Amino acid sequence: MTGAAVLLLDAAGPESVALARAAAERGHPVHAATTAADGQPPVPELAGQVVTDFARPDRAVEEITAYARRRSVGAVLTANEYLTELAALVCAGLGLPGNDPALAHAARDKMAMVNVLTAAGVRVPYTRLVHDDTGLHDALADPAVGFPCVIKPVRGAGSAGVTVVTSPAEAAAAADTARMARGQYSGESAAGILVQAYAAGDEYSVESVTQDAVTTHLAVTRKAVTCGARRVETGHSLPVRLLPATEAAVRREVDAAIRAVGIRHGASHTEVIITPDGRCTVIEIAARLGAGHIGLLVQHALGIDVSAALLDVALGRPAAINPTAHGHATVRFITSPHAGRLTSLIGFPKRGPGVPFVRWRAAIGSSVNAAGVNADRLGCFVVTGPDAAEVEQQADTLARQIRVQIDPPAPGGPDQLNSASRSAIAP
Ligand SMILES: Nc1ncnc2c1ncn2[C@@H]1O[C@H](COP(=O)(O)OP(=O)(O)O)[C@@H](O)[C@H]1O
Ligand SMILES: [Mg+2]
Repeated sequence: MTGAAVLLLDAAGPESVALARAAAERGHPVHAATTAADGQPPVPELAGQVVTDFARPDRAVEEITAYARRRSVGAVLTANEYLTELAALVCAGLGLPGNDPALAHAARDKMAMVNVLTAAGVRVPYTRLVHDDTGLHDALADPAVGFPCVIKPVRGAGSAGVTVVTSPAEAAAAADTARMARGQYSGESAAGILVQAYAAGDEYSVESVTQDAVTTHLAVTRKAVTCGARRVETGHSLPVRLLPATEAAVRREVDAAIRAVGIRHGASHTEVIITPDGRCTVIEIAARLGAGHIGLLVQHALGIDVSAALLDVALGRPAAINPTAHGHATVRFITSPHAGRLTSLIGFPKRGPGVPFVRWRAAIGSSVNAAGVNADRLGCFVVTGPDAAEVEQQADTLARQIRVQIDPPAPGGPDQLNSASRSAIAP
């Protein structure tokens, strides 16, 4: 029996591929909206596609909606953060389960996000929108900003253009970096940059699914992040158990954030910083499943098929989001300590028992960057098992066995690979 057609906005990337597979396996014809610049979508199951221009959202909404009507599409989803607002608008146009189209921009535009979250009583870093050098100077002189502070694009993702600034002298370069960060689609216009107070503490994300405005938190994820000016995520581990009072505080903030940005049907990924005394600050919320293989971790650790659940949510059917397993999973990303040419790779883990997923992206002979954005990561592997401490230990052991050679070598001696350290990520 053939189910209702499903339309994905952007069909590239592991999360989109997982959604497409979940739909195809359940008998739904899968269609995709793509933009010409994205090239061929790598989803073999595709029944058809509409090529549009995501940089021109008004036209894209019209073209996608018209295509979806012709194909009797019964669900519209995206795993691409840049397209979550478009998804909300298309769902609204088609009368399908989706997020509030009037608020969806607030899960993309970090200034709008700060404003709606503040109005909802959610703790967020003090933030100023800056348009020019005078504005930058004023923001840096504002005692509510202070140092260190964070300079970032308004509509960024994947840490692109985000700099932690420790003195006024570093601010101009950081502002240029934020201004130059291009979104995935060139229509993502840069309306200034943000200067934000630094939230000190440990970084986590909360993975949630909302259906008919009722939210279930699947897991809290502990994130390992590089130190220094550029922050790149080097590992995710879940589920993390927080102290009950801390968990209650986190849930309160995240629930309010989800409501404030109009998430009614679908996934969300809320990034928070927790201070040692348990206070929670929301850094950002995205109306999509967490990237960086978080869906895979949820699947292995908790036995929840997130793609299937999100498909059901988008189709307006009851979704299975209760854990059927109680294990642990971690993904470790390997980043290069400095820029150069990758000349050899030894000891990268192989897929096998307890290691369900490995992926090496950087070809031998290719140029690699020191980790500045998530896209600079060289590869990753996932470790899973019933016991959190054992899983983390195995991941550490596997990470230590990886050797890469990058030419020219670092002046100080042999390369030390960046990967989440156990101390940084232990539950
Ligand atoms: N206000 C802040 N305080 C502390 N760290 C921050 C702050 N803003 C950003 N960061 C760090 O920079 C990273 C990337 O910033 P984020 O706002 O999440 O941008 P992106 O949308 O590119 O992921 C965060 O994961 C965090 O490590
Ligand atoms: Mg982020």
